[in-house]
Amino acid sequence: MKKILIINGPNLNLLGNREKNFYGDTTLERIKSICEKKCSESNIEMEFFQSNHEGELLEKIHSVQNGFDGIIINPAAYTHTSIALLDALRATSKPKIELHISNIYSREDYRRKSITSEAVNGVICGFGENGYLLAIEAIKKLIYTDK
Ligand code: DQA
Repeated sequence: MKKILIINGPNLNLLGNREKNFYGDTTLERIKSICEKKCSESNIEMEFFQSNHEGELLEKIHSVQNGFDGIIINPAAYTHTSIALLDALRATSKPKIELHISNIYSREDYRRKSITSEAVNGVICGFGENGYLLAIEAIKKLIYTDK
């Protein structure tokens, strides 16, 4: 069975309380549960991870090359700052999708640049929690066509 990693960066543990105008009422627990359901329907094994620490996120990305068939990542604020996350993503040849709950292109100027997106197959943003399901659908195609 194929196995994917879904990684969430800093402050995403606060969903549900945080800037609801951008992120809605959803919580990370709820996102995890809709992802579990979608993955099990798609016959994909999934690990769901969140950290507020750049180093922990890096080490988790390092585990992809030998442990997973693909990665979906919401790097949160590190999207806009972290060359280290970019390099880690570049180091894996597995399919990679970047995802944002909000539409980063309709927000502040400093959010319009994604450093990490240079290393991924594609980006999904602006669809709220549903973006996670779209990302699973997209990565499924990439995994099963071995791209
Ligand atoms: C985010 C967008 C980022 O700009 C922000 O720093 C986040 C969440 C999103 O999912 O919309 O923390 O990645």
